[in-house]
Amino acid sequence: MSKAPVITIDGPSGVGKGTVSLYLAKRTGWHLLDSGAIYRVLAFAALTNDMPLDDENKLSELARGLNVSFKNSTVTDRIDVFLKNLDITGQIRAEECGNAASQIARYPQVRQALLTRQREFCRSPGLIADGRDMGTVVFPAAQVKIYLTASPEERLNRRYKQLKEQGFSVNLARLSAEIAGRDNRDQLRKESPLKPATDAVVVDTTNLRIEQVINQIWEIVTTQFPELDA
Ligand code: C5P
Repeated sequence: MSKAPVITIDGPSGVGKGTVSLYLAKRTGWHLLDSGAIYRVLAFAALTNDMPLDDENKLSELARGLNVSFKNSTVTDRIDVFLKNLDITGQIRAEECGNAASQIARYPQVRQALLTRQREFCRSPGLIADGRDMGTVVFPAAQVKIYLTASPEERLNRRYKQLKEQGFSVNLARLSAEIAGRDNRDQLRKESPLKPATDAVVVDTTNLRIEQVINQIWEIVTTQFPELDA
C-alpha cells in the first residue's frame, strides 16, 4: 500500500461527511475517495442489469469488473461519477441507489472485491477518505480518523434539504424510514459494520453549523499535520 498520509471521515448517512471531505480535499490539495459513490455505482449497475440484490456471487463479479471513474466537474465544485462513459453523477444520489447500495454492501465478497480499488486512491501527496469503514478496515493506519455523528432528526433534515437541492422530489416520512433502515443495516452487518475506529475522534455535529464542524476538524487535522496550515 502507498505510504501517502490518509485522513478518514466516517459516519452514518446525512451527517455531512461529503461536505467536510470535499472541503478538506480542496484545502489540502490531497486526493478524495468517496467510497459511498463506488457502492452506489455498483448498486446502479445491478439495478439497471436487473440483478437480484441478494446474489453475492453475481454482485461480486460485477464489482470486480466495475468500470467506474471520477472526474473533477467542469461545472460544479463536485466530482462527476462515470460508469463506463455514462455520467451518472445525479442518478446515483437518488435514495433508491443509497438503499440498494446498503443492501449489497453487507456481502463480504462484494466488499473484498472493492477493497484494492479503494486503496489505490491513496497516492501522494495524501488522501481524504469518506465512508463507513475507512478508519476501521480500508485504511486502518490512517494518521487522522474522524467519526461524525448527529441526531437522527438532524441527519434527516440535512439529507432532505440536500436531496431537494439536487432536484429530487422527497417524501419526508419515506425518507425517514429509508435512512433508518439503511443505518440499521450498515451498523448491524457482520462485515465492516459502521462504527468508530478505536482511535477515531468522534465529533457530534448535531448543534453545529457546517463552518463550525469544518473549523473543529481543521484544528484536528493541522495538529497532526502542522505544515498544512502554512
Ligand atoms: O455514503 P453513501 O450514502 O453514499 O453510501 C451509500 C451506502 O454504501 C451506505 O449506506 C453503505 O451501506 C455503503 N457504504 C459502505 N461502506 C463505505 C461507504 C458506503 O458500506 N465505505
